[in-house]
Amino acid sequence: MHFRFRHSRPGSGRIRVDKLAITGGARLEGEVRASGAKNATLPILAGALLADSSVTIGNVPHLNDVTTMIALLARMGVEVTVHDGMRVEVNPGSIQHYRAPYELVKTMRASILVLGPLLSRFGEAEVSLPGGCAIGARPVDLHVAGLRAMGADITIEDGFIRARADRLNGVHLVLDIVTVTGTENLMMAATLADGVTVIENAAREPEVVDLADFLNSMGAMVRGAGTNRIEIEGVSSLSGTDYDVMPDRIETGTFLVAAAMTGGRIRVKRTRPSAIEAVLAKLRDAGASVDTGDDWIELDMSCSRPRSVDISTAPYPGFPTDMQAQFTAMNSIADGVATITENVFENRFMHVHELQRMGAKIKIAGHTAVIQGIDRLTAVPVMATDLRASASLVLAGLVADGETLVDRIYHIDRGYECIEEKFQLLGATIKRVV
Ligand code: UD1
Repeated sequence: MHFRFRHSRPGSGRIRVDKLAITGGARLEGEVRASGAKNATLPILAGALLADSSVTIGNVPHLNDVTTMIALLARMGVEVTVHDGMRVEVNPGSIQHYRAPYELVKTMRASILVLGPLLSRFGEAEVSLPGGCAIGARPVDLHVAGLRAMGADITIEDGFIRARADRLNGVHLVLDIVTVTGTENLMMAATLADGVTVIENAAREPEVVDLADFLNSMGAMVRGAGTNRIEIEGVSSLSGTDYDVMPDRIETGTFLVAAAMTGGRIRVKRTRPSAIEAVLAKLRDAGASVDTGDDWIELDMSCSRPRSVDISTAPYPGFPTDMQAQFTAMNSIADGVATITENVFENRFMHVHELQRMGAKIKIAGHTAVIQGIDRLTAVPVMATDLRASASLVLAGLVADGETLVDRIYHIDRGYECIEEKFQLLGATIKRVV
């Protein structure tokens, strides 16, 4: 089986602009399966470069970002085979060069994740800077500083990060800011370094733990992932492995919020409740009854309207910034007034302007949004601006009067597998139109 470039063609410069048409009003009911986590799959695919034989990764979600990462590996000459059941086999032995070009990096910032593995395993890497992103501003400065501290010779010129190192050295790193992909890049680089690397103020996200488990299954010596102090003892080589990616906690949370907004009752299967406790707590505050098992979550809103809930985003185990837009949508139709504070990213309220066009009463002051819930939103054509913003517009469409047309949904296809099919399964009236 080959990857289908179903919705858009990363790197081709041509994007087919699909829209989602959603008729609001249906109460969501039923069961849906969580896909594999995008944010675990991307670093794990990059981490496969570290192995000296073939790596097989299971539970890989069919997403445009995953396709971009696979295209990036293939562009370097790495053999990638996509088997049935979304198992992806990566053979890094066939690599021919160590360059991540602008046309792929610009479509996905997470392409930076190949920097650490390439440098550590092959001694060189050339990765384009993401578009519109000056190093030092929103950036990858901590990735670069960490690798430099490990002995890499790095220059930034012509829009590229060019890195070389004979063998990286283990060092003691204290990250200025909690960065997820920064922690992952440095952790991967350290697996083949000479000596012990300690990463302090490390990101504690479940996807960091999943990556560490994957690396350890290849023979790496990573301890402490999931805490803010990760210790990596460098080894001389890593072997192939067969590893299943964890379930997607953000996709799971998005379906649960959708059910809460529609007064519905759903069960998300093959997920991991322990990875989204902060989100489940907020859903309970909103009035939902939430029940969990080992790998499932059931939410029952008993046909009632959610109550407003205040949100303040923070690195894990705090409330995830990737769920902020969805809770903004829920608060738009909730009973009461809510305050949402975005602490992780600047300028992550792009969805607010579109929600306002649907009638939502939201005021933004700096990095805080104050939302006065209203009874119903009104369907209008809206424009997706980024991945999670587009999810919030779909959720708003599920409770709006009339048919909402969400444009530019290639953003949503970067991170949600078969979104319209999954919502249809739950009883929503939603279809993809060109
Ligand atoms: C990852 C997730 C993304 C999520 C985010 C925060 C992946 C592929 N993406 O993104 O979905 O929204 O974590 O949970 O896992 N920063 C710097 N310098 C750096 C690196 C980061 O200043 O070198 C800043 C960023 O501008 C941001 C903050 O640190 O303000 C956190 O960003 P970071 O955790 O790095 O986000 P990503 O890893 O890019």
